Amino acid sequence: MRRLLLALAAISWVTSIPALGGDEGPPLGPVELLYLEDCAPCHGVTGAGDGVLVYKLRTKPPDFTSGRYKFRTTAQGEPPLREDVFRSITQGVATTPMLPQAQLSEHEAWLLADYLLGLIRRPRGDDAPELLQVADAPPRTDETMSRGKGLYQQMECPRCHGDRGYGDGPSAFSQTDAQGRSIQPRDLSYRPRKTGDRVEDLYRVFVTGLAGTPMPSFGDALAERDRWALAHYVDGLGVDEYERGPLQSIGEEAVGLEIATRAAAALAARGGIRPPPE
Ligand code: HEC
Ligand code: HEC
Repeated sequence: MRRLLLALAAISWVTSIPALGGDEGPPLGPVELLYLEDCAPCHGVTGAGDGVLVYKLRTKPPDFTSGRYKFRTTAQGEPPLREDVFRSITQGVATTPMLPQAQLSEHEAWLLADYLLGLIRRPRGDDAPELLQVADAPPRTDETMSRGKGLYQQMECPRCHGDRGYGDGPSAFSQTDAQGRSIQPRDLSYRPRKTGDRVEDLYRVFVTGLAGTPMPSFGDALAERDRWALAHYVDGLGVDEYERGPLQSIGEEAVGLEIATRAAAALAARGGIRPPPE
């Protein structure tokens, strides 16, 4: 099966990239081969998020050529840092088919991070992206919680996420991403969240949004203390733990295990995707 996939991936890769195809094209380097084997089945040979196995995934991979990354420490509208891409590769995205790519050496993961950044169609030049500064969260108090609750309504979060955060609001089932593919608001009552489980991570999501998805950014619409109040309130909604599947997988990670066989084998060798709950 793996061999078949590789062959398929290699064929479509060669035919879809004129620069690399045909007899004259330069031979594929080690990073390209690694990408083809481990990433292309989902991310597509050109990185457009249209791999041959995407039809199996409910959570769709992004279009790397667009430069829109969700998991960033940079300000809204900025490309990610190399470190952000490296982190997604080595730690994966919890609850999605994007597993920690444990089969890679650290060196290979950095090479792939740079490779992905090199796919961006309109790179912004050499100046470093602006970082999003996030202070430590202020303490959670009854006052911030009730304030956050009010903001949750006022900012129309329930329209997509539902009154109780279950991801079942009136507009929940009609959302599409930047490529016109169907996308669901998250059920905020579960942990782990894919953007991270700290209050600071929520703050970051509110300020930068999730690029390429209907999840808006509220960067300028909310005062600093309101962002924190909302973050504390939403954090408090996350009370349930997902059930674990094979190798302690959660949700769609199980699909990732079926597809990414090299990653799955490496994760099995280290005892699972994440340590079991205490
Ligand atoms: C089984 C399918 C699958 C495989 C294999 C896979 N990915 Fe992913 N990847 C995804 C999906 C789906 C997402 C989107 C997750 C989300 O948005 O919640 C993703 C997200 C990412 C992101 C985060 C992008 C962002 O928006 O910030 C990076 C970086 C990434 N993948 C790199 C890789 C690399 C490099 C490889 C190969 C070593 C790889 N992936 C293998 C499915 C896969
Ligand atoms: C127009 C619909 C829409 C609205 C309004 C909306 N969201 Fe979202 N939200 C989404 C979608 C879609 C996603 C999933 C994005 C993805 O899967 O990458 C999401 C994701 C999130 C996440 C990430 C969860 C995780 O697992 O990491 C958080 C947190 C969140 N929303 C909170 C909020 C809050 C708080 C509000 C109101 C201030 C809000 N959202 C308003 C559509 C919406």
